[in-house]
Amino acid sequence: MYAYDAIDRELVETRVAEFREQVARRVSGELTEEQFRPLRLMNGLYLQLHAYMLRVAVPYGVLSSAQMRKLAHIARRYDRGYGHFTTRQNIQYNWPKLEETPDILAELAEVEMHAIQTSGNCIRNTTADQFAGAAADEVDDPRIWSEIIRQWSTFHPEFSFLPRKFKIAVTGAQKDRAAIKVHDIGIVIVRNDAGELGFQMWAGGGQGRTPMIAKLIRGFVAERDLLSYLEAMLRVYNRHGRRDNKYKARIKILVHELGADEYARQVEAEWARIREGVLSLPQAEIDRIRAAFDEPPFERFEGDSRAFHGKRFEDRGFQRWVRSNVKPHKKPGYAIANISLKPVGGIPGDATADQMDAVADFADRWSFGEVRVAHEQNLVLPHVRQDDLYGLWLALGAVDLDTPNIGLLGDIIACPGLDYCSLANARSIPLSQALSERFGDLDRLHDIGEISLNISGCINACGHHHVGNIGILGVDKKGEEFYQITLGGRADEDAAVGRIVGRAFDAHETVDAVETIVETYVAQRRDGERFIDTLERTGPAPFKEALYGAD
Ligand code: HEM
Ligand code: SF4
Repeated sequence: MYAYDAIDRELVETRVAEFREQVARRVSGELTEEQFRPLRLMNGLYLQLHAYMLRVAVPYGVLSSAQMRKLAHIARRYDRGYGHFTTRQNIQYNWPKLEETPDILAELAEVEMHAIQTSGNCIRNTTADQFAGAAADEVDDPRIWSEIIRQWSTFHPEFSFLPRKFKIAVTGAQKDRAAIKVHDIGIVIVRNDAGELGFQMWAGGGQGRTPMIAKLIRGFVAERDLLSYLEAMLRVYNRHGRRDNKYKARIKILVHELGADEYARQVEAEWARIREGVLSLPQAEIDRIRAAFDEPPFERFEGDSRAFHGKRFEDRGFQRWVRSNVKPHKKPGYAIANISLKPVGGIPGDATADQMDAVADFADRWSFGEVRVAHEQNLVLPHVRQDDLYGLWLALGAVDLDTPNIGLLGDIIACPGLDYCSLANARSIPLSQALSERFGDLDRLHDIGEISLNISGCINACGHHHVGNIGILGVDKKGEEFYQITLGGRADEDAAVGRIVGRAFDAHETVDAVETIVETYVAQRRDGERFIDTLERTGPAPFKEALYGAD
């Protein structure tokens, strides 16, 4: 993992000291809430429906076991014993006391973490494939490039007051696990025909009230040009992005209004001016960052473990967990183990302090001390020996972290909704719990197969409802909570925005409606078809008819 150098450390420590002063002035009444607001937001401290909320960045979703233990400690010592992992690989604490937030930030700084740029119109935490450095299908490790972007974007003076917030995601594989096409900038690591490493640059994706899929801006940018090209992309946006209307301020609107070709032309013109300047990445610097992500000392195995396959045969519960939660690793004899934070009837993305501690222990014991946070609000142990999977599974079971539902209907993404969020129209959490219970039968869940179900409590789309195969959006109808269903969204390399099926339902009807959608799929599917395949083949008509009757 990357370790802070003296500059990183000083930046973060200075910020903590500064914030301590600001909080003291707020507590003494010297600052009004209005004056304090921009200061707290610069440190990830939001004011929500019932309390402050602190959002802490997990850079590109990578955590060491020591960092995970610190997150557990903060949950226990300063909050109500749990934390909430979000769709942008951050963690949120819902109940911090204002007076204690400087202490929390000081504790985070001890393990090289902070809440800087987790709010505001700046470049937010860069997210990446949670299987980085482990995935069998990876072209290159996205952590290296995300770290380079982190260093460039942190406290970037020119981009600290953009027209609107700005989110970048990086994937190192053709299979997109980082939802890059619904980000302001999405980066895909590729090789060109000459075999050189570089980047495909996408821009203008986003969710919120105007969901859009990103457009390809340049097919290949060489390694040394990554930052100069990004700088050019941001400059054009900063110059022309709309500051007059908050709802039109994201880069997706600019790219849409100018057209991708014109946006690309302006970026190229800017890039031509700055390409050979200070942002050109020296090879020595790339090598230095790459070295921070050297492989852990893997053991050498010839192929798959026979003992592991034997266990799968013997134990049906283990086999089921392996089928959904274990993914192929680039090294023979190793596997990627996904830890679901979606127990049946649970709150998506929540983990208790004890569970976080347990995951830190498992990481030390079985995964070289490494943990990852997935944008689907789950955790990952990236490097587990196949021979250790059975022991890990038993240990996970003891702390209620063994739910075998990764990628299945119970793996619901949901935002905090009206239980916490001041912008919400409707609750997301109780609905996701009711749906999770309705589909609590694990055999049935596995039979239904791969499907994504995403819920947002309002059109801001923090729960990615636009790109769920089934999307649910909370709407307000004369003061009552209703839910609108969309079908056909996807967040992968073939990203698409779902379409509304028809009139909205109340909470009870929504659970039944999802059941109807699933039954329709099961009746219509052909061999091996996933939900999304069937839907794309049949179109929405059979689903609409099942939901609303023929008209
Ligand atoms: C509870 C406090 C939160 C507030 C006030 C908040 C506010 C917002 C707003 C206003 C937007 C729309 C931005 C736009 O369209 O320009 C947005 C988008 C988004 N938020 Fe949140 N959010 C909150 C929590 C969360 C949580 C918990 C997550 C993750 C589960 C999250 C992830 C996202 C994502 C992925 C988007 C859509 C992508 C985008 O357009 O940037 N947010 N949020
Ligand atoms: S989608 Fe709406 S309700 Fe949900 S967290 Fe975002 S702003 Fe709040």
